[in-house]
Amino acid sequence: MLSKKLTDALNDQLNYELYSGHVYVAMAGWCAVNDLPGFSHWLLIQEEEERFHAMKFFNFLTEMQESPVLAGMPDPVNEYSSLSEVFEEALKHEKDVTARIYNLMDIAHDEREYRTISLLNWFVDEQREEEDTFSALLAVIKRIEDNGTEIYQLDKELGARVFTPPANE
Ligand code: FEO
Repeated sequence: MLSKKLTDALNDQLNYELYSGHVYVAMAGWCAVNDLPGFSHWLLIQEEEERFHAMKFFNFLTEMQESPVLAGMPDPVNEYSSLSEVFEEALKHEKDVTARIYNLMDIAHDEREYRTISLLNWFVDEQREEEDTFSALLAVIKRIEDNGTEIYQLDKELGARVFTPPANE
């Protein structure tokens, strides 16, 4: 059993991870109709990552005999003015996720709930990787955004991304 406060916060994060996937599918749609099929594909793979994150919370809750509670989602942003705006928003979103994980960690520490702390340690490392990935991509996009040939090349590279479940430990 977990406290109600911690269970609610874990459920909230389960829903936010699913929402993150929703955000990336919307971004993938914008890329697809703006002749960026590789970026679109890359973002759809990112949605698979987010589902994996969500399921870690889902599985943890059920292992702790707590019920996952699914909630409705806000509308994601569907319109962007440029590719760099897409990735600026994506990086901002990942920073929000990191802040939420830190907040969860504070609650788990207050309650000395070490099983939850162990789960969240994985997310702290994962978020560092997520922010690094988006930050690096954004830097490249900003550098080459006006060069159609280089964007075409990067689009082709990103089209090769495959989903590899993040390491579990
Ligand atoms: Fe699950 Fe990209 O944070």
